[in-house]
Amino acid sequence: MTKRRILVTSALPYANGPIHLGHLVEYIQTDIWVRFQKLRGNNCRYFCADDTHGTAIMISARNSGVTETQWIERVSGEHQSDFARFGIEFDHYGSTHSSTNRQLCGEFWKSLMDSDLVVERQVEQLFDVQANTFLADRFVKGTCPACQRTDQAGDNCECGHTYSPTDLIDPISVHSGTRPELRSAKHLFVQLEQLHEFLEEWTQEGGHLQTETANYLKGHFLHEELRDWDVSRPGPYFGFEIPDSPGNYWYVWFDAPIGYVATTKQWCEQTGEDFELWWKDDSTEVHHFIGKDITYFHTLFWPGMLKVAGFNLPTKVHIHGFLNVNGKKMAKRDFTFIKAATYLNHLDPEFLRYYYAAKLGPRLDDLDLNFEEFVAKVNSDLVGKIVNLASRSAKFVRDTGLSKLYPDDGGLFQKGSEAGEAIAAAYEDCDYNKAMRLILELADRANPFVENAEPWNLRKDDSKAQQLQDVCTVAINLFRQIVIYISPVLPGLASKTSELLGDEPYAWADAQKPITGTVVHPFKHMLKRADPKDIEKMTDETKAEFEAANPDGPQSESGGNSTFQDSDEHLIAEPLAEEITIDDFAKVDLRVARVIKAEEVPDARKLLKLTVSLGGDTTRQLFAGIKKAYQPENLVGRLVVIVANLKPRQMRFGLSEGMVTAAGPGGEDVFVLGVDEGAAPGQRVH
Ligand code: 2FM
Ligand code: ZN
Repeated sequence: MTKRRILVTSALPYANGPIHLGHLVEYIQTDIWVRFQKLRGNNCRYFCADDTHGTAIMISARNSGVTETQWIERVSGEHQSDFARFGIEFDHYGSTHSSTNRQLCGEFWKSLMDSDLVVERQVEQLFDVQANTFLADRFVKGTCPACQRTDQAGDNCECGHTYSPTDLIDPISVHSGTRPELRSAKHLFVQLEQLHEFLEEWTQEGGHLQTETANYLKGHFLHEELRDWDVSRPGPYFGFEIPDSPGNYWYVWFDAPIGYVATTKQWCEQTGEDFELWWKDDSTEVHHFIGKDITYFHTLFWPGMLKVAGFNLPTKVHIHGFLNVNGKKMAKRDFTFIKAATYLNHLDPEFLRYYYAAKLGPRLDDLDLNFEEFVAKVNSDLVGKIVNLASRSAKFVRDTGLSKLYPDDGGLFQKGSEAGEAIAAAYEDCDYNKAMRLILELADRANPFVENAEPWNLRKDDSKAQQLQDVCTVAINLFRQIVIYISPVLPGLASKTSELLGDEPYAWADAQKPITGTVVHPFKHMLKRADPKDIEKMTDETKAEFEAANPDGPQSESGGNSTFQDSDEHLIAEPLAEEITIDDFAKVDLRVARVIKAEEVPDARKLLKLTVSLGGDTTRQLFAGIKKAYQPENLVGRLVVIVANLKPRQMRFGLSEGMVTAAGPGGEDVFVLGVDEGAAPGQRVH
């Protein structure tokens, strides 16, 4: 088989906050894929870097009294240490704030300019005079122009109204607490529309994207003219100044993906590898792993930039969903925003690697970390089914070693060898859930073998010494085969196993042949059971961290040091609507309603029929396109927001008397707008 040359990346973590369990879904997913490719003998390399530019970092550094360079160096050190402790192994870890990246940004920029893709326009934005910076929407607060609530975010109010920060009454900069002023500045835009035809083809053909993603792009962006992309920010800005445009800097999202290329280049310079081969030769595969929130950048801008600059296009962009914890979105105030470093104070990193692997499929579904299931799975699968094979047999062959000939095992090892290709295909497709199931099937066959043979009884009878050695030889070989297959997920267990058996680091092919006649070293403890008490301790520590950071209680959890970096892709896809007056808004009667009945609608692919109560005897029947996203029984009892004065509409399935409000692109990604319990059905939403 020919060796594939494969370049792999994960999204570059933003250097403005610690790595948390949400980030780790992606880095663990990618690391498993890379380790699998390496185990198969492919020439696979994994690159990542810190994403270091932008206003948020500039402000964080300033608030901490350090320079930006000092700030990003410290964060990079922390990130790299967290990754290493989780067994995430990069071939090179760089920084977007490097001279290599600056030079490559210049190269990409020149190609865009030479292709006449860049235009200049004036943009009006709020400017914080005291902090001396333009303000992105999330750094402005003020009074909502629709409902007059104070202390609302720069782009939307609790009342549901969305606006531009320049519409806020009494805007305040969250950096300095002063009133910003409106300033106009020059921005540079890339005219993406000129690449429409290319992007249409690249996204829709060739299997570069999961089907859901290809459809999403088609339905949300490519069905109409692509908007120009604002790629510059006026200074002061922490980033690279644009050549020939003094005072203007590349927007962080311009230089971030180029960081993938720069990191590869640095690695090539350090190792003597040929950079052209890695980024400009068709025979190299490029695989990006990212979360679904940054789809837009990686599937439209980035391929566009690569195309124009003459670099390899991604072979595949692998997109995953978000992490929920115990069924809910991670939230600091629920103490589910758990830092990697906090987890490591209490739990084995291999537990999380395994748990995520067992839950990850090839699609974009969100993944739920449920701690009860986590403990149960780790203990039953890893300790109970896998490690147990070795712990119940290795000690009995400590003196004799393994049998010289591989004994008759009823075909168990052979079956395991035959399963190899199906397991490999599942890893290749990022269907780790399937890979784990196939591997556990092997353990489920191996355990009854050991239980029936009872090595612990055989050892009591000297005349059964040969039988004991044979049984243990089989058990250890079946264990070893499983460990090799699961080694991309559990590299720590794999190295303890190779130490036990005096093996070299494993290759995939080692699972095809049993070992015989070898020494077995003293069995050292391999994996301890997961203890629910450790989960509690981890949660307590997370709670203490939260309380230390928010001494005045949960209300004080905000401020300019936000570690969120929500993408602006939705605003780009669907820009804010034309301004309306408060009277226009008042025409829409939004009400709190309680779902009292939710039913499937036979023959309707997308619809659920909801009966909602507005209080008293007043009910409404509505049809909502949320079938793919919600189980009817999970909606009953919930408070939702409906448009109560919408003209009733006769549908094929019945009369629809209003509309339930929801956000999201559709299909499984629909989120019904709710209100906190305490609000009462019938209350009007202002
Ligand atoms: O979303 C993020 O956290 C970004 N820092 C990811 C950047 S990925 C790439 F483009 F660099
Ligand atoms: Zn409002």
